[in-house]
Amino acid sequence: MRHFTSVKDIGDLNQAVEVALDVKKNPFAYSHLGKNKTMVLIFFNSSLRTRLSTQKAAMNMGMNTMVLNVNEDGWQLESELGVVMDGDKPEHLREAIPVIGSYCDIIGVRAFAKFQNKEEDYSEKILNQFIEYAGVPVISMEGATRHPLQSYADLVTIEELKTKPRPKVVLTWAPHPKALPQAVANSFVEWMRETDFELVVTHPDGYELAPEFMGDVYVEYNQKKAFEGADFIYAKNWASYTNYGKILSNDLNWTVNTEKMALTNKAKFMHCLPVRRNVVVSDEVIESPESVVVQQAYNREVTAQAVIKMILESL
Ligand code: CP
Repeated sequence: MRHFTSVKDIGDLNQAVEVALDVKKNPFAYSHLGKNKTMVLIFFNSSLRTRLSTQKAAMNMGMNTMVLNVNEDGWQLESELGVVMDGDKPEHLREAIPVIGSYCDIIGVRAFAKFQNKEEDYSEKILNQFIEYAGVPVISMEGATRHPLQSYADLVTIEELKTKPRPKVVLTWAPHPKALPQAVANSFVEWMRETDFELVVTHPDGYELAPEFMGDVYVEYNQKKAFEGADFIYAKNWASYTNYGKILSNDLNWTVNTEKMALTNKAKFMHCLPVRRNVVVSDEVIESPESVVVQQAYNREVTAQAVIKMILESL
């Protein structure tokens, strides 16, 4: 594997799960692969889990790590070509990216959707410039449209916890006061479609995800009906794709609570975190034994390490 930006980069998913479970058991067994190699993590947006888990994963692999929070530590970076740079951005990505690439062996990049222009976001403008100009492998630490490190961790968590070969997995939209990108939801659907699991997506009218991610995945607009018999409930907010970046509903009737979880097959509750309690999910549900959000977050380290291992092995 050279770059990791979507499920398509990782090959056979069963094998990918095996690699992850192996590094989970033996986190320091492959540290020779990263000796004298460096990973730079570039954040255009905030992070807790991705920053710590990916840096830890790289350190487990024996790598040196450097982190740059662009908006706090670095120069503001211009991404448009042909602009007169007389504003607040003193450096262009076209110089910054190859310079960063010259200092390291792998780059991790987080660059969210900006919600100013759907086509620009969905073309992954910043992530693709890193791939084009870095000269080294690039790992998406959440782009504008996908969060593949999260989805890989989600898959491993489901594989660890499932009690039947074909669990019913429900992705449910939940309310949120801010407009959030579709990346986690898009990516989760994209990864689940590559499995044999039964996937159902539930959301209010107007929150349909992009057709290229959804394909023929079943949408059940009645959330309670969707929850019936579910083995996994994955809650996530996202802003509207059709009415791009807009909040169409803040209906707290979509909050995941014990009443709804009682409709499931003792489903595990999943969320990528950070999560707003009593908006997305009730205190009772997230604190219940069925909540697996911490295991899911720990698997971020595991799967980031699996990705770094696969890339180092191919250098
Ligand atoms: N789930 C996730 O990506 O968390 P952070 O935004 O804290 O990195």
